[in-house]
Amino acid sequence: MRKETQKEMAAKAAALYVRDGMTLGLGTGSTAYYFIREAGAMAAKGFRFRAVVTSKKSRELALAFHIPVISPEETEFIDLAIDGVDEIDKDFCAVKGGGGALLREKIVASKAHEVIWIMDESKLVDRLGAFPLPVEVLPFGSRWTADAAKRLGGDVRLRCVEGRPYRTDNGNAILDMTFPQRTDYRTADRELRRIPGVLETGFFDAICSRIIVGGRDGVREILNPERVCMTAMDESF
Ligand code: 5RP
Repeated sequence: MRKETQKEMAAKAAALYVRDGMTLGLGTGSTAYYFIREAGAMAAKGFRFRAVVTSKKSRELALAFHIPVISPEETEFIDLAIDGVDEIDKDFCAVKGGGGALLREKIVASKAHEVIWIMDESKLVDRLGAFPLPVEVLPFGSRWTADAAKRLGGDVRLRCVEGRPYRTDNGNAILDMTFPQRTDYRTADRELRRIPGVLETGFFDAICSRIIVGGRDGVREILNPERVCMTAMDESF
């Protein structure tokens, strides 16, 4: 089964957790696209919800699907954030930011009562590391920031597009970092945050309450037992 079909299946399953009146957090990327499209179809059927978006691209998509978009200033919290991942291990630790939206994605996830990550099965890994860890840094002094990051051990590349430094929606640069095998991501994340100029890393420390994986055998949902979540409670009562 094609990866795109797997993503679409996961997105459709996630849409079952959307309730009327919710404030949603909309992620970024190709898997998030399928969810936004699904949410748009629900809005067309009369579901009322609104959304905080994590990127300009997702804002465009949400508006194209007639989903009301609000700014973070207009809400105290988010009921449900839905997003994709680049890779995730069995402890629900994930690397995100392949699409460059990691900073806004982390802000939105941190204000969400529930976070669901949707994905095709290729995103499940035994150990993080195959996908480089994106780190959002201030353009000012970014070479010094990269040098400091390099001293933590590992390879650091400034993300470029068509030969020019990539810029996030926040106007910042991204360093893509590859670590030696068996690197402890929690430690690396902590060390990176101590470097002046580092604004956020794409390491998401088990922040989700549920993952939904589209695969060759259908859709699998896996609950994170460490995170209390509304939908899990719904199911047990
Ligand atoms: C964007 C992200 C995406 O969620 C991540 O890159 C996965 O993207 P895709 O669904 O296209 O594989 O973190 O910043």
